Amino acid sequence: MYILNLENRQLASQYVATELLKQIKMKPDSVLGLATGNTMTDVYKYLKTLINHNHLQLDQIVTFNLDEYVGLNADSEQSYHTYMYQQLFKHHQTWHKENIFVPRGDVDNLEQECLMYEQYLKDKGPVDIQILGIGENGHIGFNEPGSSFESVTRVVDLSSSTMKANSRYFDSIDDVPKQAISMGLASIMCAKRIILLAMGRNKAEAVSQLIEGEISETLPASILHQHPHVDVIVDNEIFEVLDQDKVQQLERHLS
Ligand code: PGA
Repeated sequence: MYILNLENRQLASQYVATELLKQIKMKPDSVLGLATGNTMTDVYKYLKTLINHNHLQLDQIVTFNLDEYVGLNADSEQSYHTYMYQQLFKHHQTWHKENIFVPRGDVDNLEQECLMYEQYLKDKGPVDIQILGIGENGHIGFNEPGSSFESVTRVVDLSSSTMKANSRYFDSIDDVPKQAISMGLASIMCAKRIILLAMGRNKAEAVSQLIEGEISETLPASILHQHPHVDVIVDNEIFEVLDQDKVQQLERHLS
C-alpha cells in the first residue's frame, strides 16, 4: 500500500481522474470499478473534461459499480444508478449501455441479482482499476464493520453511522434505505489495482486506523493491506493527523 498526499480536493480528484484516463487510453476495453458518494463527484467532473479533450471512445469500456440501495427504483433521485447517470454517463454518447453494470436494488429477487452481479464480475473482469471512497466507519463499498474478508456481492444491512452520514441526501433519516446490495470485500480484492480516495476531516479517523491499525474485519478497508497494488490518496486535512512515522513507511511521492 502506498499513501500519496495531495494538498486539496481539486488536486486529489484530478489525480484519480487522470489515472482513469491513462487506463482508458492504454487499454480501450478496460474494466473500471466505479464508486459513488460525495468523494467521487469531482473525480467524475475532471474525468468528463479529460474524456472530451482526448476525444476518447468509450464503447468498449466496461464499468462495475460497488453498490446500490435496496428498495429504490433505479430512476429515483437518490439511487446510485441516477448518480452515475448524472455525474458521468449522460455526458458522453459513447458509453455503451450494455457494458455498464450497477446492481439493481429494485428487483423482487435480490439474491439472484447478487449472484448474477458476481457472475458478471467474473465473466467480464478482472477490474483493471477499482476506485474507492471510505466511510467514516472504515467501510468500503457498503461492507460495514464486521463484514467477512471472504464476502462477495450480497445484501447488507447499513450501519446506523452510514445511514446518518447518507441522510444528507434524503428528506429525513427515516427515508434512508436500511439495506443495500454491495460488492463484497473478496470481490473488490480481485481488482488488479485499487485507488482509495479520502478527503476531509471527517474521514481522518478512519484513514488513520487504516494506516496505523491492525488488519481486522472491524475495519473493512484494512483488507487493502493484503492487496499488491493499492494507492491511498489523501488531502492535507487527513495527512496532518496521521502518524508521520507510519506515513513515511508508506509514502509515495509524485515523480
Ligand atoms: P462519501 O461516501 O464519498 O459520500 O463520503 C464514501 C463512502 O461512504 O464510501
